[in-house]
Amino acid sequence: MKFLLFFASLFLVVDSVMVVVNGKPDPSFKANQNTNATTWEKCVKYCSEEVTCLLAYDNEGKCEWFQHENITKVKQTTVLEEEKVAFKVNNFSTSSCPSGLNPPTFDNQDAHGVLLIPGLYDTFSKALEGIDLKGKTIAITGTTSGIGVDTAKSLVLKGAHVVMFNRNLVESEKQKRAFIEEKPNAQIDIVQCDLNSLASVKKAAATYLEKQWSLHGLILNAGLVEALLPVLRSSAPSRLVIVTSALHSHSCVKPNSPMEQKLATLCPKDASKMYLHLYSCSKMCNMLVAFKVHRDEYSNGISTYSVHPGSGVRTDLHRDSGLSKEVSGKYWESCWDDEKNLDKKVARDEELQDALWKRTEELIAEWERTGKANGKAK
Ligand SMILES: NC(=O)c1ccc[n+]([C@@H]2O[C@H](COP(=O)([O-])OP(=O)(O)OC[C@H]3O[C@@H](n4cnc5c(N)ncnc54)[C@H](OP(=O)(O)O)[C@@H]3O)[C@@H](O)[C@H]2O)c1
Repeated sequence: MKFLLFFASLFLVVDSVMVVVNGKPDPSFKANQNTNATTWEKCVKYCSEEVTCLLAYDNEGKCEWFQHENITKVKQTTVLEEEKVAFKVNNFSTSSCPSGLNPPTFDNQDAHGVLLIPGLYDTFSKALEGIDLKGKTIAITGTTSGIGVDTAKSLVLKGAHVVMFNRNLVESEKQKRAFIEEKPNAQIDIVQCDLNSLASVKKAAATYLEKQWSLHGLILNAGLVEALLPVLRSSAPSRLVIVTSALHSHSCVKPNSPMEQKLATLCPKDASKMYLHLYSCSKMCNMLVAFKVHRDEYSNGISTYSVHPGSGVRTDLHRDSGLSKEVSGKYWESCWDDEKNLDKKVARDEELQDALWKRTEELIAEWERTGKANGKAK
């Protein structure tokens, strides 16, 4: 039987094991090559030692490996097909396979992943079962690849008016055509937005406001919160979904350090630090912003979700359109409330949430005044 394996987390622990099964990564995901690993055993060993490697793949004798950000689906193959993958998992004391779905466990220990079996627990279809999004306008960033594509498509198929914020217009138009092929009367708009540029973000938000579209849901694979808060308020009840990551807990912010030091760690002036560290910091910033917005905006009818994806976004869409105090302001991993894996001492630090928001406003103001933010040009 075929199955899809969706990973919801990266295990940075050195103390990990590799689990080898017959399988093949989805070819649309980017692989790294390791030409020095001339045998499968060396390939697996390399992945187990490379902190960013989640999966190793024996591609006809070539060692391919995938970083956490570049792998989501693996198709199970048969023994006869001889294709092998090795997953990195925490070093549990057991040798048994994970079982259960919510979440899967190794002998009741969290396995940080979820098995998705088509027809039984399919990507979005199950979560969106019976939901009609006609009349709802949902804006989403980053729909030209990865999780954003599936999310946008699912929303389109459920009848929502979907506004895609993307920097790559050619690819966006391609996606739009593909969605319309599946749903000819789909209502899809594209707003150009390069999230690396404050000018572009501002322009995109202004374009959105000019169009006078409502905003019942804002799904952010990245920034763009503040400018659209007023329209989220006026479209309430509405939702803000910020896609974070389990990697937020590697931000290296020391909970007991002075506020300035925490901010300096989260927003380092020297951006030449290793990618993973910056990524973790950005994901902690996402988390702090999400919790701050929940505190400030829940009473205005906006419920906020901070989601580590995989199957994350559907968790929110699975719910009816009413607001629920229990779910707004929480941290989700896939289909479950994952507060236990949240770096609470940092992420739930309300003073830090406020300070980060203020620092962000200051940086934006500095940029507006001088054309530079944090020493960087527009
Ligand atoms: N995949 C995972 O396992 C995983 C795990 C935890 C968290 N996440 C989070 O999930 C979100 C989506 O991840 P993904 O794996 O789907 O990533 P992805 O496949 O790399 O897709 C990222 C999307 O964002 C767009 N994008 C990137 N930089 C942009 C910019 N400066 N301006 C405008 N658009 C930009 C990309 O567009 P272009 O085509 O223009 O590049 C693309 O559409 C991210 O927030 C990520 O941190 C993912």
